[in-house]
Amino acid sequence: MSTQWDAIIIGGGAAGLFCAGVAGQLNKRILVLDHAEVLGEKIRISGGGRCNFTNQHSSPANFLSLNPHFVKSALARYPAKDFIKLVQSYGIAYHEKHQGQLFCDHSAQDIIQMLFAECTKGKVEIRNPVSVLSIAQESGSWVVNTSTGLEKSKAVVMATGGLPVPAIGATAYALDIAKQFNLNVVEPRPGLVPLSFTADSFHHLNELAGLSLPVRISSGSKGDRYGACRFQEDLLLTHKGLSGPAVLQASNYWTEGEGIHIDWLGSVEVAGGFNCDALFNDEENRLKTAETILASVLPQRLAKAFAEQKNVLGRKWAEVSKKDRHALKELITNWSVKPAGTLGWKKAEVMLGGVDTKELDGQTMMAKSHPGLYFIGECVDVTGHLGGHNFQWAWASGFACAQAV
Ligand code: FDA
Repeated sequence: MSTQWDAIIIGGGAAGLFCAGVAGQLNKRILVLDHAEVLGEKIRISGGGRCNFTNQHSSPANFLSLNPHFVKSALARYPAKDFIKLVQSYGIAYHEKHQGQLFCDHSAQDIIQMLFAECTKGKVEIRNPVSVLSIAQESGSWVVNTSTGLEKSKAVVMATGGLPVPAIGATAYALDIAKQFNLNVVEPRPGLVPLSFTADSFHHLNELAGLSLPVRISSGSKGDRYGACRFQEDLLLTHKGLSGPAVLQASNYWTEGEGIHIDWLGSVEVAGGFNCDALFNDEENRLKTAETILASVLPQRLAKAFAEQKNVLGRKWAEVSKKDRHALKELITNWSVKPAGTLGWKKAEVMLGGVDTKELDGQTMMAKSHPGLYFIGECVDVTGHLGGHNFQWAWASGFACAQAV
């Protein structure tokens, strides 16, 4: 059997490479094993090729987990500003796109190269492609059987990520190892994923494909796995239904059979909040058409489609009954639609669920019942909102683990 390592990290993606670099620079002997030909593929395709590598405002409120407190320690010890400092120290150019989301100016490759450089500084050994055949605990050590031989280590870190995008090597290996050691796994399901809709939910909006507008979207309810959410984000109308960041955010909280709710007035910013009644009851509007009034707060095409849907197109406002006004108000502030499903693992950006946080120590990411066995990154039941929070979790959980191994 070869060298005794301080830690063998299985999975050389965001969390694994970052953890390896930090631990190596703390003078720990680190081996990274990955089955992929090329490492960091998820980073490469992230953020449309520009990697939304963190979010300046990342806080525990941006994460979903059965135990929402679990992320607090790791995020406090390695906040977004520390990763930003690291990025700056490599001279990587970046910019803020929206709500604190930071993207590389040039390419996600900058982040991948930085992670490799950090591993080189820490004298980390990286081997790929290598298959991990089994992991066992033998008289206080961890023995990892690989396609290139047996390796012995004081610790094993599972960093094999989640199930999205199987085409680039995603596996459930971390979850299989958790089960092997009798750790509970919260059922995985696709997150930050486009939702699908049946054609009849959209027949009134079909002609608006391509329209994008900010809305307030809500999904989920108190009794659901992760409760309820409300986001202000951009929504895109497509031929197949709804898409864009608003739907991805809502998808994390959506459960099969439930509806999602849209307040189309997300862009209407009025001090003290927009009051639909004030607009609808304004005497000055009496002689205007219904669609003109709606168009004062909505894109014209949408205003027309809604007026048409409620059979008030071309009608003077004074002639629109109280009942129809109420129906219009409901339509524009609380539009409800039932998605038929999600587009699944192929199109998901993250995995919801994973290794149950109650099995792990939040300070170190170590399995409480199996000293020396760690889980970091996406394989843990921690999922971030859209906007760089998932990478921030990879860095923070990797950092916490690196101090402990
Ligand atoms: P990651 O998936 O990065 O790494 C896992 C590694 O384990 C891989 O190298 C894989 O080959 C290896 N592996 C898997 N099974 C193995 C096995 N059995 N044996 C050995 N090795 C194995 N997040 C964000 O914050 N900002 C963004 O812009 C985006 N954009 C984005 C776009 C798209 C299209 C996707 C799919 C995802 C994102 N994400 C994102 C999410 C982000 O990519 C994700 O949260 C992190 O990559 C998770 O890091 P991990 O290290 O946990 O897994």
